Amino acid sequence: MSKPRILITRRLPPAVEARAQRDYRTTLNPDDHPMNMAKLLDLALNRDALLPTLTDRLDAEVIGRLPDTVRIIATFSVGHEHIDLDAARARDIAVTNTPGVLTEATAEIALLLMLGAARRAHEGEALLRSGTWDGWAPTQLMGIQLTGKRLGILGMGRTGRAVARMARGLGMEIHYHNRRRLAADLEAGTTFHETAEDLLRVSDVLSLHCPLTPETRGFLDAERIGLLPEGAVIVNTARGPVVDDAALIAALKAGRIGAVGLDVYDGEPGLDPRYRECENAYLLPHLGSATLETRNAMGFKALDNLDAFFAGRDLPDRVA
Ligand code: GLV
Repeated sequence: MSKPRILITRRLPPAVEARAQRDYRTTLNPDDHPMNMAKLLDLALNRDALLPTLTDRLDAEVIGRLPDTVRIIATFSVGHEHIDLDAARARDIAVTNTPGVLTEATAEIALLLMLGAARRAHEGEALLRSGTWDGWAPTQLMGIQLTGKRLGILGMGRTGRAVARMARGLGMEIHYHNRRRLAADLEAGTTFHETAEDLLRVSDVLSLHCPLTPETRGFLDAERIGLLPEGAVIVNTARGPVVDDAALIAALKAGRIGAVGLDVYDGEPGLDPRYRECENAYLLPHLGSATLETRNAMGFKALDNLDAFFAGRDLPDRVA
């Protein structure tokens, strides 16, 4: 049997592309241009599978227009809100994602954002780079100490639990809300709150780890921001649209929120330009999973799913 034909929509780490090329007839994207719908549909012609990323919007229209040859979409991401799963089911196209392998890398970025935002790392670095630092001063760039503070984790899945474990090392007291309370061994001494609002009330630092769903879209709005303690720090490594940008920017500018650390944005790669004016916003460009180890593991997981599909086995990470 000849090798299945797959379209990989973005540049992937060399080891992932090498394995894909060994096992499949592979169309790559060597200059890594994000694909518009026309280009993607053009390159999908005669392909058996797509290996897209979260920069490819596979909505109902695109899925409806995919050639009949495409039987599986193995996304290089854990999030799958860029794919219309119902449209895929309607066309009997399987969809898989890459859960489990982003956990530690994403938790590290949440910790980086937490520390960077609270301790004003970006402002300190900018001062040095500008050449205007005139020396140590007792009141210079005073930040928010994390030791002893209450960390609220919204969404206590794998990443939330990894953040809890790491933050405990900083001497933080960990609270969480999750749709279901965790078993005692997973809870590991953290404090459960029945409602997200109860969690907000005690969160000196709030870290978001929920998926983007119709229920979580716009979750952190003005009213809920108002429940947080004065001067709270907010960290978002989940998805931009979980936050109401206008409400958060107003709270940052008013000093009601002490600092924010963001890795994800509504409308990426765009972001609300007013964030750039907020000195108390520490901003990263969606780096949560950006380590070689993790990006390799994501690629291998996507390929494991394709291998299983074409061998007629159950799919390890099927979401549709
Ligand atoms: C990253 O944000 C992912 O969903 O894989």
